[in-house]
Amino acid sequence: MIGVFDSGIGGLTIVKELFKTLQGYNILYFGDTARTPYGTKGKDTIIEYSIRNTEFLIKQGAKIIVIACNTASSVASEIIKEKFGVPVFEVITPAVQKAILVSKKKRIGIIGTRATINSKAYEEKINEAISDVKVFSNPCPLLVPLVEEGWIKNRETRMIVKKYIFPLKTKQIDTLILACTHYPILKDIIKKKVGKNVEVVDSAVSLALLLKEFLIKNSEVEKTLLKTDSHIFFVSDITQQFQKSANMILKRQVNLVLGNNKI
Ligand code: DGL
Repeated sequence: MIGVFDSGIGGLTIVKELFKTLQGYNILYFGDTARTPYGTKGKDTIIEYSIRNTEFLIKQGAKIIVIACNTASSVASEIIKEKFGVPVFEVITPAVQKAILVSKKKRIGIIGTRATINSKAYEEKINEAISDVKVFSNPCPLLVPLVEEGWIKNRETRMIVKKYIFPLKTKQIDTLILACTHYPILKDIIKKKVGKNVEVVDSAVSLALLLKEFLIKNSEVEKTLLKTDSHIFFVSDITQQFQKSANMILKRQVNLVLGNNKI
């Protein structure tokens, strides 16, 4: 199975793309809804949670781990890669590759949680890949709760997005990375506020393609994956709101199962 974890429900935006690109492969999802959000927490806590999530998924039969959370990817992906003997994919590399590909002026903006922006993980990866690039970032802590409340088209949400995007617009970015799994849900508003000359990039499509390519090249890993098109969605806490968000993202009734919920 392909094990995917996120701090909560937002990682389902990645799962949605995996469903399209890797049809038939069984997905084992874990959303750490009891401990969400990660974006406001400190590094050691995020690392500890990420290790626990990976252990849980491997115990349940995951042969590949996808860290479908920008915050956990920024802070914990290197440790997860070192600690566990399975292939690990994070969301930063595919988003950075895509941004570099589409950015003509090499002026790239990043929006994400506080922990993601403070980690500078995106900036470092971009600077490793190319020189002469200008990177501008802005944390947007209010966007995750707005999405979780289902405030997708509200006037207040549009105003807040505008306020967060404005400082990046003034830097004349030509590409904007959505460095948070919740933000693709606000993509239409973000696109409108940032303007049509700016390419808006998120990890989901590129990550799914990267994983597909990996499976083609690594048949010994591919063979270990189940392909019965059956999926399990574990969460560490179930509330009506999590259920509503999960259904909204995957556009179907999602059967959430309680798991890995010992605090
Ligand atoms: N999933 C997180 C991310 O992509 C956002 C929610 C949180 O703060 O935990 O960064």
